Amino acid sequence: MAGSVLITGNSSGLGRGFTEVCLDRGWSVYGVSRRGCSGLTGALHDVRCDLADADTVAPALEQLLAGVERLDLAILNAGALGPIRDLAEIPVATVEEAMRINVWANKRILDWFLARPLPVTRIVLISSGAALKGHRGWGTYALSKATLNMLTQLYAHEFPDTQLLALAPGLVDTGMQSVLCDPAQTDAGRFPSLQRLRAAHGTEAMPDPVAAAARIIDLLPTLADRPSGSFVDVRDL
Ligand SMILES: NC(=O)c1ccc[n+]([C@@H]2O[C@H](COP(=O)([O-])OP(=O)(O)OC[C@H]3O[C@@H](n4cnc5c(N)ncnc54)[C@H](OP(=O)(O)O)[C@@H]3O)[C@@H](O)[C@H]2O)c1
Repeated sequence: MAGSVLITGNSSGLGRGFTEVCLDRGWSVYGVSRRGCSGLTGALHDVRCDLADADTVAPALEQLLAGVERLDLAILNAGALGPIRDLAEIPVATVEEAMRINVWANKRILDWFLARPLPVTRIVLISSGAALKGHRGWGTYALSKATLNMLTQLYAHEFPDTQLLALAPGLVDTGMQSVLCDPAQTDAGRFPSLQRLRAAHGTEAMPDPVAAAARIIDLLPTLADRPSGSFVDVRDL
């Protein structure tokens, strides 16, 4: 099934994977990121925007989606890892910075959908298993993804005709994982949960972004009966 999809954070990693898969399948793709998405063929519409900047989100969406009357799917994927360090060493401002992109940018997009209004059949907010786990060192990221899960649950009440899902994509071999798997950047001795990621890196347990995106797109129809606002981890399916 082809349709129209908004994908945030589509310049790299999983978002670019979603973009490639959807374009290959004949979808019209509307992408948002700071760097932009180039080198692909198909119905790709792209706008550059810093989603962490409160003032630019709505104008960027107005520009990107001018003339679009409805979306079949929105994948709110843009995200940042933040530091892997003990929370006590992380200033509140650093946590706030991650929250701006991982949570509040998505709130602004959801508010824009409601205000315009732009009907959307399904909205998938890309979450993480870290939202539930609370492993040492993951404070900034885990707080932001746990908040994202609750944001999804809460907004489900306000989108009666849309299915909202917070979806953990499993491990995906992206720039984010390069940081987590690089001993020069993150300390697996101090933060042992990194060892599992390093063991998975380069194996089929950590697929490339296109393979991971294709699996998720294929799974979406099977999730149609999930209550709106649910959290789903693809590793549980
Ligand atoms: N990789 C994994 O194993 C994994 C596991 C669980 C969850 N996730 C989640 O999957 C999503 C994608 O992550 P990834 O692994 O693909 O990471 P990535 O390769 O670092 O990609 C992050 C994307 O987000 C965009 N982005 C970040 N800050 C932005 C901003 N201020 N404004 C606009 N766009 C911004 C980036 O685009 P620009 O830099 O061009 O702006 C980029 O396209 C994230 O939500 C992440 O938390 C990933």
